[in-house]
Amino acid sequence: MPADTFLLNKPIDKIVWRCPSNIAIVKYWGKKGIQIPCNTSVSFTLSESYSEIELEVFDKKNNSNIELEYFFEEKKNVPFENRVLKYLSDHLNQFPVLNDHAIRINSRNSFPHSAGIASSASAFGAIALSLLDASFILQNQSHNEEFFKRSSQLARLGSGSACRSMYGGFVLWGKNKVIADSSNEFAIPITSIHDNFKQWHDTILIVDDNPKKVSSSTGHSLMNQHVYAKSRFAQANERAARMVKILAGGDYEEFIKIAESEALTLHAMMMTSEDYYLLMKPGTLMAIEKIIDFRRATKIPVCFTLDAGPNVHLLYPENDKNTVTSFINDELKDSVKKIIFDKMGNGPQKIK
Ligand code: DP6
Repeated sequence: MPADTFLLNKPIDKIVWRCPSNIAIVKYWGKKGIQIPCNTSVSFTLSESYSEIELEVFDKKNNSNIELEYFFEEKKNVPFENRVLKYLSDHLNQFPVLNDHAIRINSRNSFPHSAGIASSASAFGAIALSLLDASFILQNQSHNEEFFKRSSQLARLGSGSACRSMYGGFVLWGKNKVIADSSNEFAIPITSIHDNFKQWHDTILIVDDNPKKVSSSTGHSLMNQHVYAKSRFAQANERAARMVKILAGGDYEEFIKIAESEALTLHAMMMTSEDYYLLMKPGTLMAIEKIIDFRRATKIPVCFTLDAGPNVHLLYPENDKNTVTSFINDELKDSVKKIIFDKMGNGPQKIK
């Protein structure tokens, strides 16, 4: 639909949601069917790295097509508009609001483009929240406890990891036979958390800010035929279950062992795919070695994790913030391109 039609009208509603990104500790890598994960994953939700979506809802005239205009920071963004259009048309039955309404989305991120932060998680999280909220408002329905469960389900259909951003703190996604209420369809918050894990930091060391050479979708699909797939999925399920106990019990050492091994295993899967590839850079290894050396020397519970990219996420508890900040300034700052200081947050927020 050309932009000069419904955008000339006055919107009947305007909603703004802010949704944070998250960092996985036990990684989701491999999916099947309609965005069903091959294993359970665990993440914590961030606070400073978020997407904000302003959704304007307009009346729609006799048109059965989806009417969407997508802007990124007030500029038309056709590639992302097409991705969102596909998402909406693939799951139109989930978005009844689109049958008789046109929508304009303007999105912005709090973090720089290509910073190695999963922008699809926060963007699809915010899109799902604002569209679901619009449906509730138009049907005069108030939010109930199902709201975030449903928004998690809708966010998952856009990007798997987005479903974990619907709650603050530690979150789990993926059916796991030893975790009650776990589901492949939506994420659940992990509620029993020891004081040691109540506030963690994620300082992102940007080693390389070039666009990714291999997309996450390609990476996930390479797990379909992967020679180690079966044991990898079993390992992640077992680790996710163990992680839930560790978070309740407060054992730093066990947490670190799983977190670091998960990061290396994720990259090992990429390196051992049929179409193998390598995302780590010399700067990634340098930062990892410095982090391990610092931990050995100080016994401070700092560790690293990696996403599907070369940038290093330095994780540590609030209590050690000052010492770790000095370590970052003395040992890491000069050898990375940029540093983003983030920490655990409380989940999405309705701004308007
Ligand atoms: C390495 O959620 O980006 O960050 O479902 O295809 O959108 P899609 O993939 P995405 O994959 C994230 C992979 C990861 C690990 C994780 O977040 O668990």
